[in-house]
Amino acid sequence: MRAVAIAKPAIYRSTVGKKAVMAVSGGVLVLFLIGHMVGNLKIFYGAEDFDHYAHWLRTMGEPAVPYRTLLTLLEVGLVVAVVAHMWSATSLALRARRARPVKYASRKKSHAQGYATHTMRYGGVIIALFIVWHLLDMTFLVVNPAGREATPYERVVQGFAPENWYVTLFYVVAVIMVGLHLAHGTWSAFNSLGLRTPRNNRTLRGVAFALAGVVTLGFLAVPFAVTFGLVS
Ligand code: HEM
Repeated sequence: MRAVAIAKPAIYRSTVGKKAVMAVSGGVLVLFLIGHMVGNLKIFYGAEDFDHYAHWLRTMGEPAVPYRTLLTLLEVGLVVAVVAHMWSATSLALRARRARPVKYASRKKSHAQGYATHTMRYGGVIIALFIVWHLLDMTFLVVNPAGREATPYERVVQGFAPENWYVTLFYVVAVIMVGLHLAHGTWSAFNSLGLRTPRNNRTLRGVAFALAGVVTLGFLAVPFAVTFGLVS
């Protein structure tokens, strides 16, 4: 009995800490997604602009810092954010399970709650698998049909060519998962950060859904434009 009384506040604090890690790392990933989406939309300006942007990513900060320094720092930050996000999510989920050794009777757990948990958990796994594929496709050019010497524009255009419809389909599913993850994740972060009040409830929900909608449509625009011949 005594042990429980002492341990409870510590567990509580650390759960809040893990939620904060999740919210902050999620925030970093949202910023990356917005930047990446805006950068991708440059494809509508043509090959030269898009490849120039990809080149700029590698030469940012030159000549003050050597080639690729800032991009490498950004990549390290991204990896740290992804690991922190997955670690806090897993450890919060395990803790929730330990705290509830007997499964909820289905009527106790609302439909919406179960849906959100499933979307976040399995959606997160699909997104992680997608990122591995995406890096092999667009960054390391291991699976991209354009080959190793291709420019960034060629990778995108050949990657989403109509005959590679199954790759495009995988991207579309993954981007929709990212959108759902973002909608629920942003909403949860508002809650965890204590920003939600009965008065701003609807507004914050609207902000979370609008952000997710813009990011989803912005990312989908590129593969669809290539598949339907608007970009070639
Ligand atoms: C569906 C539309 C998308 C397109 C057309 C696209 C395109 C690209 C391209 C061309 C690169 C290589 C950039 C370069 O090396 O210059 C890249 C890198 C990357 N993309 Fe995407 N991407 C898309 C969606 C996403 C999504 C939804 C995510 C995350 C969930 C993502 C995460 C990344 C990451 C982590 C990198 C590596 C960044 C780096 O270290 O340089 N991408 N993407």
